[in-house]
Amino acid sequence: MNVLLLGSGGREHALAWKMSASPLLTRLYASPGNPGIGRVADLVKLDVADHSAVAAFCQEKKIDLVVVGPEGPLVAGIADDLRAWGFRVFGPSKAAARLEGSKGFTKDLCTKFDIPTAVYGRFSDIASAKAYVEKAGAPIVIKADGLAAGKGVTIAMTLDEANAALDACFEGAFGAAGAEVVVEEYLTGEEASFFCLCDGATALPFGTAQDHKRVGDGDTGPNTGGMGAYSPAPVMTPEMTERTMREIIEPTMRGMASLGAPFAGILFAGLMITDQGPKLIEYNTRFGDPECQVLMMRLKDDLLVLLNAAVDGQLAHMSIRWSDETALTVVMAARGYPGTPEKGSVIRGLDKAEGEGVQVFHAGTAINGGALVANGGRVLNVTALGKTVGEAQAKAYAAIEHIDWPQGFYRHDIGWRAVEREKTGN
Ligand code: AMP
Ligand code: GLY
Repeated sequence: MNVLLLGSGGREHALAWKMSASPLLTRLYASPGNPGIGRVADLVKLDVADHSAVAAFCQEKKIDLVVVGPEGPLVAGIADDLRAWGFRVFGPSKAAARLEGSKGFTKDLCTKFDIPTAVYGRFSDIASAKAYVEKAGAPIVIKADGLAAGKGVTIAMTLDEANAALDACFEGAFGAAGAEVVVEEYLTGEEASFFCLCDGATALPFGTAQDHKRVGDGDTGPNTGGMGAYSPAPVMTPEMTERTMREIIEPTMRGMASLGAPFAGILFAGLMITDQGPKLIEYNTRFGDPECQVLMMRLKDDLLVLLNAAVDGQLAHMSIRWSDETALTVVMAARGYPGTPEKGSVIRGLDKAEGEGVQVFHAGTAINGGALVANGGRVLNVTALGKTVGEAQAKAYAAIEHIDWPQGFYRHDIGWRAVEREKTGN
């Protein structure tokens, strides 16, 4: 089959790498892709906001499946439009993508269907938001309702910080995404990412991961899109997975269907594992980046078979096999990230870094004058499989030693929590 993959990050490189191993694949196109994706796909330049142009391309190239990587096009309704033109799309409808596109929508769904989450209020005027914050007290969490590229959440440890975050939102720091805010209880516990492959009716667990959001070693410095991840997440024991399915995922699937917006695609639940059990922090309606990279390393089955089954409503008949090994990815970022990254520095040595059980996924790279250069904040994802988290970590960092890129930086402690656990046995 001919497949079109939309997106350009490390997530999409991992998806392209895995799909390219499928005997079902005839031709893979990616738009816009990146040089790593270009090793396994034909790169094409489409305006993803122009849904009819994407449809025309699908017509011309006889595309059998469109796989949408990032959330933006999904929230804008690309899956609906392409389906209306008769194309098969992996990714939720616009109505189902509200699970990511509106935090308030998801919170109200939790209330309606009794899904455990932080206590919250939804506000579209600053005076009532500030009154709620005053009454609830700090610490408290302020969230812009809409898509804000991961920057719309403030964990306010004091009332002053909370009020400043509300001022910023209502003064337009996040544009239309901040015209409404969610104010919610600060949860404590260990975070985990939980993925399900969904076909509108059935949700199949699709792996777990833990991400490292802060830019610096020891979880210090500003938040990022993710500086590294590993899978599986040890905190997601079989019991915790079963509770998450029963208390969070299944009511969400039933709830969305009852609202006329059945969810098909990847449902990515950000969880806080609290003393009382799993609570939903947020939903994303696509794979995580860099979580996808570690999931793809561990997936034993044919990704295209699974994506097809999700599109065709056939997941009730499927099971998914995973490697028992741990996968760990270290993000190499360009100096300046998560602020303004320096672009254009030359990267060498990637061929020496890759080997048995080690893949280097490209995120923000480009080719300039024949050389591979940095072209974004997060640039490379050095990803390794190991029998233990410690082994996967050692392999990933050993691979980084081969990469010659003085202008890049990375965290030196990805997986630390799980490595500690392995050492202490709990
Ligand atoms: P989100 O964009 O909603 O994933 O939020 C970004 C990060 O903020 C999460 O990964 C958590 O680390 C943190 N966070 C969000 N909501 C809460 C909450 N209610 N309590 C504690 N931490 C939170
Ligand atoms: N790594 C977090 C995300 O993809 O949203």
